Amino acid sequence: MSYLTDDARAPYRSETINDHAPGSLEAIVAANPTRRTLLRNGLFGLSMLSTTALAACGGTSGDPVVTLPPTAGPSPTPTPTPPPVSYAVTFAAVAANQNDAVTVPAGYTVDVLLKAGDSVESGAPYTGSFPTPAVAEKWAGGNHDGMEYFAFPGVDANNRGLLAINHEYPDFNILMSGSYNAATATADQKAIALSAVGISVVEIAKGSDGRWAVQSGSTYNRRYTGNSSYRVGGPAAGVVAGPVKGMLNNCASGRTPWGTYLTCEETTDNYLDPTQPANGYGWVIEIDPRRELAEPTKRTAMGRFDHENVAFLENSDRRTAFYMGDDSTPGCIYKFVPDRAYSATNRAANTDLLDTGTLYVARFNGDGTGEWRALVVGQNGLTAGASDPGNTSQSTTPPAPTTVNFNSQADVLINCKSAARVAGGTVMDRPEWITVAPDNSAVFVTLTNNSGRRVTNPMNPRTSNLHGHIIKFSEQGNSPLATSFRWEIFLLAGDPSLAAGGSNLTGNINGDTFSSPDGIAIDPQGRLWVQTDHSVPGNSGVAGRTIDQAFGHNAMFHVDQVTKLSKRFLVGPLGCEITGLTYTPDLRTFFVNIQHPTGNWPVAGQQPRSSTIVVRRTDNQPVGA
Ligand code: FEO
Ligand code: CA
Ligand code: CA
Repeated sequence: MSYLTDDARAPYRSETINDHAPGSLEAIVAANPTRRTLLRNGLFGLSMLSTTALAACGGTSGDPVVTLPPTAGPSPTPTPTPPPVSYAVTFAAVAANQNDAVTVPAGYTVDVLLKAGDSVESGAPYTGSFPTPAVAEKWAGGNHDGMEYFAFPGVDANNRGLLAINHEYPDFNILMSGSYNAATATADQKAIALSAVGISVVEIAKGSDGRWAVQSGSTYNRRYTGNSSYRVGGPAAGVVAGPVKGMLNNCASGRTPWGTYLTCEETTDNYLDPTQPANGYGWVIEIDPRRELAEPTKRTAMGRFDHENVAFLENSDRRTAFYMGDDSTPGCIYKFVPDRAYSATNRAANTDLLDTGTLYVARFNGDGTGEWRALVVGQNGLTAGASDPGNTSQSTTPPAPTTVNFNSQADVLINCKSAARVAGGTVMDRPEWITVAPDNSAVFVTLTNNSGRRVTNPMNPRTSNLHGHIIKFSEQGNSPLATSFRWEIFLLAGDPSLAAGGSNLTGNINGDTFSSPDGIAIDPQGRLWVQTDHSVPGNSGVAGRTIDQAFGHNAMFHVDQVTKLSKRFLVGPLGCEITGLTYTPDLRTFFVNIQHPTGNWPVAGQQPRSSTIVVRRTDNQPVGA
């Protein structure tokens, strides 16, 4: 959750308080060994195919074959053997800085791909004037956050594909003058604000110069906004009277194994248009970027809370678990397990697969064990007259329990945060992104921060947790169907130079330090990337030292899972957070989002705008070296 979201939601918030403390991508090919093998074979197959195809061309032409006598000449030039592709992480880490620019290692290049206000559907882009609602509805929205890259069948995904991008919040500075007030906004102002949330889908392609560009006029280019209508599926569909107008606060995201996009609402109310019923928001929405399957659908079986992202783990039987965090201060960690396997051969058979299954909440025990408790009406205390203990972490004086009635599964799903606490779920320090290791052996969760924590436990060990931590857990048998797991703290964020403010600020990072881990993704080569969202301006914990002075601008890091060595890969411009990470299958192109910059970026002399950037090596080798 960005500080902009937090401010906007404040008047409408009823249950949780997100403070101003510093606040996946699932692999293009999914995260299990079988699919990694498919990826490798696919890439090797592609290069073999092109060689074979070229060789075959000379012999299949319809032209008559003319045989010439052999002539003396130079020996044939041997075909150079291409150097082996390396995914070793050897980049020269960049220094923390406060430059109003994107900083990347030597040998890398950055291009801006899609700015807030650029055209997605055909129409005039932002050029400095405020838009009408109809114009704004076709622009890229604001506050770019999670995103996923999708291949087309039959097209080399390393050169062309679809990019689905979340828009968490409007970039109001390019939309209207003054500040937005939902209580007094005109109909046009509301429509413009709601146009700038949701998602963008754009077809993108790499040019001969290596630069990527949005393919203007592509029929795949499409906005799904806060003004669009959304189908409702799952057990709460009868109560959440669909279609729902709009989705918003599209924070982070995920994908399914069958190639649909999962965009996550990080709000349980429509704070941009509070006239809409609140139970229509706080869901995961499934959208097919190729528009072959169902209309965009709010999947109520996955629960209603402040969703961050979704990451899946699958077994060899194509059974899946979808992991999700509730970015609340504090919030729980969930997984949803569909009742049946997905089909790898019949994409349409997976339509509405996410409507039937079991939602679980994680209970962390202090001894390193954990269990998944089913959020099913009638089980784990989820009955009429249930007692919700509330958020017990934020005060040494526990809150008074409240009575909650769970009379149906719809009640459980709509009031999911309360159901999770009733069932014994553990409230954690703002769970944000979750990612799954390619061999299914580990799941990582960022716990961004919780400056208001007053009661600690082994899994949330610091009071006033200003800089956050990362937890790693492993499912029993590495199975998506497991009901127990083991966990450990992977790292505590912070910096040793902050010791004057207290030992809870120093952390234990080996190498380049950071605050407030938010985005996290393990790429198909098993490399762990972390993105930060410390709030700007913000408090480092030491008087007279801002958080940017302590850590530099928000940044992206590689963290080795064994040595835990952290290396700073990218630093963002003034005022931004770094969020969103997706890549081409060959890992030579990384897409990253720069959210809510406040300086003179990306276009000098113009309003700052949230943007998707492309990061590549200038020698076209995989990112990381
Ligand atoms: Fe879009 Fe919880 O951050
Ligand atoms: Ca954030
Ligand atoms: Ca986030």
